[in-house]
Amino acid sequence: MSDTAVLAVPPDTKKDPARRMSEAAAATCDQIVTPAVYADQAALDAAFKRLRAEDPLAWCEPEGFRPFWAATKHADIMDISRQNQLFTNGQREMLSYHEAEKGVYAKFGQPHLLKTLVQLDDPLHYKLRHLTQEWFMPQNVKKREDAIKSIAKQYVDRMEDMGGECDFQRDVALYYPLRVIMQILGVPESDEPMMLKLTQEIFGAQDEDLMRDKSLAEERDVEKGLASIQATLAEFFMYFTNITADRRATPKDDVSTVIANGMVDGEPIGQLEAMSYYIIVAAAGHDTTSASTGGGVLGMLQNPSELKKMMADPKAVSRTAVDEAIRWTTPVKHFMRTAQDDYELRGKKILKGESVLLCYPSGNRDEEVFDDPFTFRADRSPNKLISFGYGGHMCLGMHLARLEMQAIYEELFSRVKSIELAGEPSFIKANFVGGPKSIPVRYKF
Ligand code: HEM
Repeated sequence: MSDTAVLAVPPDTKKDPARRMSEAAAATCDQIVTPAVYADQAALDAAFKRLRAEDPLAWCEPEGFRPFWAATKHADIMDISRQNQLFTNGQREMLSYHEAEKGVYAKFGQPHLLKTLVQLDDPLHYKLRHLTQEWFMPQNVKKREDAIKSIAKQYVDRMEDMGGECDFQRDVALYYPLRVIMQILGVPESDEPMMLKLTQEIFGAQDEDLMRDKSLAEERDVEKGLASIQATLAEFFMYFTNITADRRATPKDDVSTVIANGMVDGEPIGQLEAMSYYIIVAAAGHDTTSASTGGGVLGMLQNPSELKKMMADPKAVSRTAVDEAIRWTTPVKHFMRTAQDDYELRGKKILKGESVLLCYPSGNRDEEVFDDPFTFRADRSPNKLISFGYGGHMCLGMHLARLEMQAIYEELFSRVKSIELAGEPSFIKANFVGGPKSIPVRYKF
C-alpha cells in the first residue's frame, strides 16, 4: 500500500447519511467503545452477544468517534485480519476520539506520533517485522526458558515471603512479565519502575489510576491529552537513544542489539523506527501478559473445579490453562483495519476507506466456535482463541507470552497448598489493553 493512503486525513463528517445503525448497533455501540464497560465483563459480554446474534457486522456511529463497522464474529475477524493488502493498519489502527485524531493531524500532519509495527503496512511493516521475527520464534524463545523459569521462581518466592496474603495482580502479575521483557530488551532491573510507569501511561491511559495527568479523567482535553502522551514518549526516546548508542558500540545477546543494528533497504534503521520498535516491544510485551497471567489465576479462583484440576497436575494442565487464560481475559480488546477497496461480507458492503473494529473479546466468546464460551475451563482443548490476532500482524510475542505464563503457573501451582480470593477483584477501564487491576488473595505454601 502507498504512503499517501497512510497519510489520508480522517473525514470531518460524524454521520454518514447513507448508513443506518440497526437497533442492536444503536443500543450497544456506545458501550463497546467506553473504557469503563471493559471493566464490567457481564455488560461487555451482553453487548457483544447481542451484536453477534442480531447484527454481526454492525455499522456503528458512537458519540465522539468516527463511524466504523464492528466485526464481532470469530470467522469475520480472521477473514479481515488475513487480508493485509485489502485491510490495512496505517490510517486507523485503533479507536481514538475524533477530536484527538484531528488534534494529531493538526499538530503532526499525519495519523501517528510513532512508527510502530501495528501502525505500519507492507512493505515497511514486513521489513521491520522481519528484523526480529526470528528472535521471537519458538525454538529461539525456548533458549530463554531457564532464565524465565528463574524469574518465575523469584516472584513465587516473593509471594511466599509476603506471608499468607497479597494482591496477585499488583504484587506478582504486574512485575513478572515486565522483568521478562526488560531482560529480553536488556534493560537493567533498576530502571523497571520507570518503564512500568511509562508503559502503563501509554496503554492504560484511559484509567484514572494509571494516567500521568489525572485531570484528564474528567475532561476530554485534546491538547492536554496530546501533551501527556508526548511527555511519556519523550522519556522513552531519551532512554532508548542511549540504549541504541550503547548496543551499536557494544552488541549484546538481547533484542535491543537486533533493533539498534537493524538494516532496512541497506541502510541502518531510522531513529523514529528504532524508538518505535523498542516502545512496541516494551509496551506490548508487558501489560498484555500481566493481564492474562492475572486473568487466568482469577478464572481458576472463581471456578474451584478448574483450580482443583490445575493443582492436581500443574505441569500438564498449565499448557491448556495458559491459552484459556488468554482467551478468557482477551488482554487486547481491539485493533482496527481500513478497507482499501470495497468488500462484501455478511451481505453488506464495506466501502473503500471505511474502517472495521476487530472485536477480539467477542470473537473469543463466539458460540459457533467455542463450547460453553462463558465458562473458564482450564483444560479447554481445542482452543481457537483469537486473542493474538491473525494474519501479517499476528502477535510477534505470542510464543514468549505462552512460555512465561506456563512457567509461572507451573511454579505457583506446584508449590502453593491452597489459594483463594480474599476480596473483590477490580478491573482496568480501557478499551484497548486491559484486564485485572487488583486480585486480593489468601494462600498457604
Ligand atoms: C501484536 C496480543 C504478548 C509483541 C499483537 C496483536 C495482538 C496481540 C492482538 C495484533 C495482532 C493483529 O493485528 O492481528 C497479545 C496478547 C499477548 C501479547 C494477548 C499476551 C497474552 C506480547 C508479547 C510481546 C508482544 C509478550 C513481546 C514482544 C507484539 C508486537 C506486535 C504484537 C511487536 C505487533 C506485530 C505486528 O504488527 O506485526 N499482540 N500480545 N506481544 N504483539 Fe502481542
